[in-house]
Amino acid sequence: MTRRRKIYEGKAKILYEGPEPGTIIQYFKDDATAFNAQKKGTISGKGVINNRISEYVFTRLSHIGIPTHFVRRLNMREQLVKQVEIVPIEVVVRNVAAGSLTKRLGIEEGTPLPHTLLEYCYKDDALGDPLIAEEHIACFGWASQEEMQDISAMAIRINDFMSGMFAAINIRLIDFKLEFGRLFDGDFSRIILADEISPDGCRLWDMDSGEKLDKDRFRRDLGGEVEAYQEVARRLGLLPEEGDSAVLDLGEHRAKKGK
Ligand code: TMP
Repeated sequence: MTRRRKIYEGKAKILYEGPEPGTIIQYFKDDATAFNAQKKGTISGKGVINNRISEYVFTRLSHIGIPTHFVRRLNMREQLVKQVEIVPIEVVVRNVAAGSLTKRLGIEEGTPLPHTLLEYCYKDDALGDPLIAEEHIACFGWASQEEMQDISAMAIRINDFMSGMFAAINIRLIDFKLEFGRLFDGDFSRIILADEISPDGCRLWDMDSGEKLDKDRFRRDLGGEVEAYQEVARRLGLLPEEGDSAVLDLGEHRAKKGK
């Protein structure tokens, strides 16, 4: 394999310098963390599934006019993306109360919200990604008001689209996290969707049984993580009906184990 310069290693992905200026390769790891990396583990084959699911979702979003950093999937674990300057804000979109919202405000998990709630967190691992208000974003200049208008409008459109996309495969989109970046063109920049969209950063419940098909299986020690991620991929039509595990047990993963 050719040697590539590693730019950054995060909790679930590694970023490498891309083949041409302005591009980056995103490598999806099997590593999983929760509660600001206090809990660590691996979900075998997760990286392959998330690479595939994120490719699919970003491609569908681009078809409805959402600008994204996604260029193309390169192989089982890597995708080529446009280099952006990440806006240091995690945008959390909520349709149903779950996770930190239930703890913070004492709302019962599963309570439908009267309207979609947008929350912002400051991206800083050392601080544990604290919840912030739009005033903090303006006050500290993390994003301009125009950028926040683009970000919030895109987040709402993405939620509308994804809620329908998942409902069509009998999955309820409870909440999810988005990250955006600045794409520079000379002195100008525009906001595009970056990072990934996968069961790592979404809460996805089976519409009938309420079964969790996302990273809460890992956070809460429910087991069956990879099966849940595979089920999402399968319902999205990203796996053949037969022999799913053969595809996602992923030669690459087996080869690594054999080393
Ligand atoms: P929360 O309930 O823990 O705040 O999470 C809300 C949603 O955002 C949930 O779908 C998981 C996702 N999320 C991430 O992807 N990364 C994070 O660091 C956090 C805190 C949440």
